[in-house]
Amino acid sequence: MANTAIIGMQWGDEGKGKIVDLLCPAFDAVVRFQGGNNAGHTVRFGEHHFALHLIPSGILRPGMRCVLGNGMVIPPDALFAEVDKLAAAGIDSAGRLFISRRAHVILPLHIALDQARERASGGGSIGTTARGIGPAYEAKASRFGLRVGDLEASDFDARLAAEHRRIGAELERLEAEVPELATLREHCSAWRERLAPMLRDTEYLLAHWMREGKSLLFEGAQGTLLDLDHGTYPYVTSSSASAAGACTGSGVAPTRLDGVLGVLKAYTTRVGSGPFVTELEDETGEYLRRRGNEFGTTTGRPRRCGWFDAVVARHSRLINGVDAIALTKLDVMDALDEIQICVGYRIGERLCRDLPSSMDDWQRAKPVYVRLPGWKASTEGNLDFESLPENARDYISTLEREVGSPVAAISTGPRREETLIRASTELHRLTSGRLTE
Ligand code: GDP
Ligand code: IMO
Ligand code: MG
Repeated sequence: MANTAIIGMQWGDEGKGKIVDLLCPAFDAVVRFQGGNNAGHTVRFGEHHFALHLIPSGILRPGMRCVLGNGMVIPPDALFAEVDKLAAAGIDSAGRLFISRRAHVILPLHIALDQARERASGGGSIGTTARGIGPAYEAKASRFGLRVGDLEASDFDARLAAEHRRIGAELERLEAEVPELATLREHCSAWRERLAPMLRDTEYLLAHWMREGKSLLFEGAQGTLLDLDHGTYPYVTSSSASAAGACTGSGVAPTRLDGVLGVLKAYTTRVGSGPFVTELEDETGEYLRRRGNEFGTTTGRPRRCGWFDAVVARHSRLINGVDAIALTKLDVMDALDEIQICVGYRIGERLCRDLPSSMDDWQRAKPVYVRLPGWKASTEGNLDFESLPENARDYISTLEREVGSPVAAISTGPRREETLIRASTELHRLTSGRLTE
């Protein structure tokens, strides 16, 4: 039985939600291990359309167990709103949604601070999702944070008051409104009651499931280039969005992770600020945004769009040890006359195939492209690789060569049904052979 991580290989929004949903039949539980409601994972099947932010996409599959791991940061009100929205759509999560007592709470204080800092930094902002992610992880790292399990702790009130003083002081400096401590306390009592039935020491729960022979699917949020260590720092999120995070963020040992499926969009998008060497600020960029419906699932912001960047994808393959790739949104490129793939960066006189580590190099980096002819035919919903247009197959083989991992699944539409699965030993192994059963 394989435990597999699904990881975004670019700057998020690669279509992880769709791929997790698709692979669910091969797994017994889905685990989120980092991030919070900065994520927006879309799943579509039949007439249904869901956007999930905190709860693993697996929740949409009847009976699938879902875990919010210790590496996450969770605003309880947003979690309850998501549970209620699912319930209204006929999806009951009771008894199969478990939250780690070690996950951290995003307090309204953290949200206020995220927003106040972004406002204060003006043109130099990160362009965060304004969900309090950075301040909540900062509190965790500096050991002031409150964990979900701490809501029951005897010293909770004192620690909440201390966090209120600490963040309140920075909010005042930024001339932002400070949430009332009394209101925060009321929130916390309501959260305590409603969260209680979902709280577990999830590392033991996961270990128990693995002993029973169950397979775990780890659902990455954000993407490798937004990883705190391996991304385009400081234009990143505050968690470990790459595959290693699946272990620290869930308590499942690295030796128990059997493989990684990387999700790559057939072109590149990014929301928020930061380097983007292949960005297209022209009509092709506009075409990709319109045709790909590239507007944020969480904030509605238009996504920046550009050509596929193999420097980025190779870095992700290396950092994550990607065994196989799920390539998404190929259909979005159907109408293009010509397609470009960035195979390296020119930085001053140097030609680089590896990702720069300094912002100075990022600012100077220029893309080196290879050009390929477009296929000018519909690939939408195509389920047979051999019947894809020849130029589309060439595009995919060029990506495989440049990135160095095989493309095992090709998504050609937003719906679950619109995915081509290739005969692949890697994918067979990552799904314990259960996908094709
Ligand atoms: P995630 O954050 O990685 O889960 O990705 P998002 O859900 O934020 O963004 C992906 C968007 O593309 C969603 O609106 C999906 O419904 C849509 N999508 C996923 N795969 C495909 C595809 O192959 N073709 C098209 N046209 N849309 C897709
Ligand atoms: P999914 O899981 C795309 C980006 C923000 C910003 C930076 C930091 O849907 O792929 P944060 O609020 O995390 O402190 O913002 O990270 N960002 C995402 N971009 N998809 C996401 O999630 C993202 N989550 C955060 O736009 O640039
Ligand atoms: Mg998204």
